[in-house]
Amino acid sequence: MTRILSGVKPTGSPHLGNLFGMILPAIELTNANPGALLFIPDIHALNSVKDATKMRELSYEVAATLIACGFDVSKNITYRQSDIPEIFELSAILMPFTPKGLMNRAHAYKDRLAKDGNDDNVDMGLYTYPVLMAADILAFDTDIVPVGLDQKQHIEIARDIAERVNAATGKPTLKLPKESIKKDVGTIPGLDGRKMSKSYGNTIEIYSTPEETAKKLAKLATDSLTPADPKPDDSAIYNLMRLANVDKQFQMHYLSGGIGYGDAKKELANALNTYLSPMREKYNELINNKAYLDKVLSEGATKARAIATPILDRVKKDLGLL
Ligand code: TRP
Repeated sequence: MTRILSGVKPTGSPHLGNLFGMILPAIELTNANPGALLFIPDIHALNSVKDATKMRELSYEVAATLIACGFDVSKNITYRQSDIPEIFELSAILMPFTPKGLMNRAHAYKDRLAKDGNDDNVDMGLYTYPVLMAADILAFDTDIVPVGLDQKQHIEIARDIAERVNAATGKPTLKLPKESIKKDVGTIPGLDGRKMSKSYGNTIEIYSTPEETAKKLAKLATDSLTPADPKPDDSAIYNLMRLANVDKQFQMHYLSGGIGYGDAKKELANALNTYLSPMREKYNELINNKAYLDKVLSEGATKARAIATPILDRVKKDLGLL
């Protein structure tokens, strides 16, 4: 059996970058490998979300999103990270196997330092983020972690830490995970053409109304080609047209010339709204049924703990802690 595991952080309303870059490819993989774990790393989110009401709501949003996008909770497992004490125990065990230098090289920490300049302001949640993420993965003997390109380094760090544990025990105490990054998706462009990211303020949210979506797309950055000009196939707008399943004939007409950016954006908005409509409907139904989401999350936690407990015991035995 191949165990798939990934996490969707509850830090903001999910956008198309999350959807196409990670959520849909991950769900696709889980459908082919049932018994998969897609969880809500709420302690990771605590680095930026410090308001209780917001945290609770955002966690429900992730759970509802996964299910609305096709994650089958009758065959797979979803849970809040904070409900699984085994993860935090393993994280503590991994600390003495994690060199500071490894954390110093982590992208998120380096970006933060570059922005702020003051190392004293970096809290330990951010600094040790990769260790907790390694525990998330290693606590379940994970084989494959479907993630966006930005998370590749985190999986490498998890492998590095696991190898250090195994070198100490002289046994395959921890399973070495591999990342899965969907090649044909790559980086999802945002409204300004840069990578779609909350921190750039260039996102298109999944759950806006069709009108809001069209309004946002009208602002999508384009070049100054005229309607008659052939259009490049590597632009933000064309990448989104492909992802949103814009009619193939329209796409060809657009590329060969004869369609202006205004009309292309309208077509894109229509296609995207059609594409998202079943997810939006299902999501609205789920987000208004918190009792159901609570039940799914608590059943998920029970199943997840049943997997993690013997693995943690094995780690403890191999290290003389049991
Ligand atoms: N760091 C991931 C992100 O920002 C979220 C995450 C936390 C995760 N733990 C994980 C992803 C474990 C995969 C596996 O998107």
